Amino acid sequence: MKNRKILVTGGAGFIGSHVIRRLVNRYSDYHIYNLDALTYAGNPENLIDVENSLNYSFVKGDITDENLINDLFSNYRFDSVIHLAAESHVDRSIKDPLAFVKTNIIGTINLLNAFKNLWNGDFEDKLFYHISTDEVYGTLGDEGLFTEETSYDPNSPYSASKASSDHFVRAYGETYELPYVISNCSNNYGPNQFPEKLIPLFINNIIAMKPLPVYGDGNYTRDWLYVIDHATAIDDIFHKSNLHETYNIGGFNEIKNIDLVKQLCDIMDKKLNRQIGTSQQLITFVKDRPGHDYRYAIDASKIKEDLGWKPSVTFSEGLNKTVDWYLDNKKWLDNVTSGSYRSYYKEHYKL
Ligand code: NAD
Ligand code: DAU
Repeated sequence: MKNRKILVTGGAGFIGSHVIRRLVNRYSDYHIYNLDALTYAGNPENLIDVENSLNYSFVKGDITDENLINDLFSNYRFDSVIHLAAESHVDRSIKDPLAFVKTNIIGTINLLNAFKNLWNGDFEDKLFYHISTDEVYGTLGDEGLFTEETSYDPNSPYSASKASSDHFVRAYGETYELPYVISNCSNNYGPNQFPEKLIPLFINNIIAMKPLPVYGDGNYTRDWLYVIDHATAIDDIFHKSNLHETYNIGGFNEIKNIDLVKQLCDIMDKKLNRQIGTSQQLITFVKDRPGHDYRYAIDASKIKEDLGWKPSVTFSEGLNKTVDWYLDNKKWLDNVTSGSYRSYYKEHYKL
């Protein structure tokens, strides 16, 4: 379909900015509206290269503001929504669950209501695409993979809020025939990720020769996906999925935190011309995250078989590209680690 009016929420954040860049550059006949509250995680610098594109508009606003959302839908008449805006950091959700309830649950319901009321049952060529996480499935033991049929079993306030929002999206599909798709993705990494998450935090600390706080024994496992491959998957699902489908997205790439951290340390030592082993000395085992999920691993065979999607880079290629980006964009890193981030870091890590 040509001339779509797509509302992307959370487009100034990490994944959202890569999604926006891809859509703006690839689909000149679409208009992409980016609605973002610019919380600590939203950064207009992430989109500097597309901000003047004719098919792109930025709106600063909060998805918890019901009146604003209703006004935007009636003024712009979005035919599609790609909903990424969220509070996204597990550690922050442990400190302040209500912020996650407000944005991730209430904010999602505001968008669903506005979309439902605008189109009032006439949903032809309309789509509400909800971006979710593999964390809704809870934790795995040493064996097995999350499939689209795995039962929801969230363990953190963050994952409980995302699970709830997924349920609401499905419920609106059943109750009001709202046309939706949902995808549940594993851990992303890459350029523009806020340095509270493992990889960018540790890159930042290695540059500054600060301790690398590994939670517990470091034997927790995640399945890592390069963010640009997630953006490609979102594009594919948006354009090719049947309605009311769920897709799991993953990197086919499980690694224990401690092994990842050691790999990162060695890459950084090489790039910073430090003696190999220097950064590994910064590894510091700290108190574990409460309710820490032991292992996530995605069975991404459905998206591979149905839509022909697969990751384009290996973990080693992606990690090298990521480190290069952070080293080349030191100013970006300095800008986001100034201000209130410093007090969060001090309070959380006490390091
Ligand atoms: P992020 O924290 O980097 O960005 C979130 C964005 O949402 C920011 O730009 C922020 O300003 C905006 N936002 C937050 N609250 C808002 C509100 N009330 N109104 C409007 N905008 C608001 O997050 P991310 O890592 O890019 O994640 C994006 C989405 O993808 C989230 O829904 C997350 O649950 C999901 N996800 C993330 C990962 C991952 O590894 N990062 C993996 C799977 C799924
Ligand atoms: O799986 C998808 C999820 O991945 C997304 O839904 C979340 O938005 C995203 O934040 C991410 O959640 P995680 O909790 O897995 O990511 P994080 O980078 O916070 O942590 C990755 C692993 O590293 C996890 O096992 C905790 C550990 N860790 C993290 C930090 C920040 C540490 O050992 N030390 C740290 O300082």
